Amino acid sequence: MLYRLARTGFFQLDAERAHDLAIQNFKRFQGTPADLFYRQHLPERPVECMGLKFKNPVGLAAGLDKNAECIDAFGAMGFGFIEVGTVTPKAQPGNDKPRLFRLTQAEGLINRMGFNNAGVDNLVANVQKASYDGILGINIGKNKDTPLEKGSDDYLICMEKTYQHAGYIAVNISSPNTPGLRTLQYGEALDQLLSDLKLKQSELEKKHGKYVPIALKIAPDLSDEEIIQICDSLVRHNIDGVIATNTTLDRSIVKGMKYADEAGGLSGRPVQQRSTEVVRSLHAELGDKLPIIGVGGIDSFVSAKEKMMAGAKLVQVYSGFIYKGPGLVRDIVKNI
Ligand SMILES: Cc1cc2nc3c(=O)[nH]c(=O)nc-3n(C[C@H](O)[C@H](O)[C@H](O)COP(=O)(O)O)c2cc1C
Repeated sequence: MLYRLARTGFFQLDAERAHDLAIQNFKRFQGTPADLFYRQHLPERPVECMGLKFKNPVGLAAGLDKNAECIDAFGAMGFGFIEVGTVTPKAQPGNDKPRLFRLTQAEGLINRMGFNNAGVDNLVANVQKASYDGILGINIGKNKDTPLEKGSDDYLICMEKTYQHAGYIAVNISSPNTPGLRTLQYGEALDQLLSDLKLKQSELEKKHGKYVPIALKIAPDLSDEEIIQICDSLVRHNIDGVIATNTTLDRSIVKGMKYADEAGGLSGRPVQQRSTEVVRSLHAELGDKLPIIGVGGIDSFVSAKEKMMAGAKLVQVYSGFIYKGPGLVRDIVKNI
């Protein structure tokens, strides 16, 4: 009820302005008595995944808290895990505005943010200030001005700096808004990246005396053949998990709607079915070899359950959270 009121106000504003305002308020309220506006006491629904213990299987997807400024606010809402980032080695402004659009009729969003973030050092400083005791994922990427051939250097820099502060590290090679990034999902480029990451992981494990799992985040716009090849690489390189999916370039479901022709990645209900199909294909290929984190269009307990029935061990929400608010987390956790 409270969220529905707040949403009416927020939806009067430009989408990115509303997002920034929400982040500012969460930052102000977190850790104070004012967090009762969104605090939720949810039942425990423990899940073990990637060797970690999650309070419940519902996480916040990457991109909402890019700079890890509101970890405690999202923790208070009852998320079982929170993924911050995508973070890059250096701060960067992202693409020109406007770059975030609501397709309200379809409960979707189109974004071409382009990894706007304040850089990895800033993120680590924010993580150190937080007192959230759940699992924190840190999602890493590459700077726009780093040539693709040198892309893995950026992932290794971010990994080195975030390793000891992360519950798991998510490797984002699936954003459509950094030119060429998605080509890292294929063939030799993928093999090289995964092998570099594993080498770094074992070096950092020795240094810090803790094993931090790595999960690879993939796009929904992959053919069956490409999914099979990715699964083969994930298993060969002993990667710990896979996050499916990021946003889609496909516009067939929203054709003719306002903003449908804006460039960028489409999320929310329009990507729900395709994401679930990708989760199902991954599961058919991987079985129990490595866990799948399902994300894309989850907007209710029913759609969360669908992802789990398709093979996801954990789920994440972004767009559904914008449209439904913290009640979405409660709905899923209570019913699961
Ligand atoms: C505005 C916006 C920004 C996003 N930024 C990131 C990001 O920085 N890194 C990332 O891995 N995914 C990012 N995503 C993708 C989401 O994490 C998620 O994978 C995708 O939106 C599908 O889930 P949803 O339908 O619940 O939104 C972003 C999504 C949106 C809408």
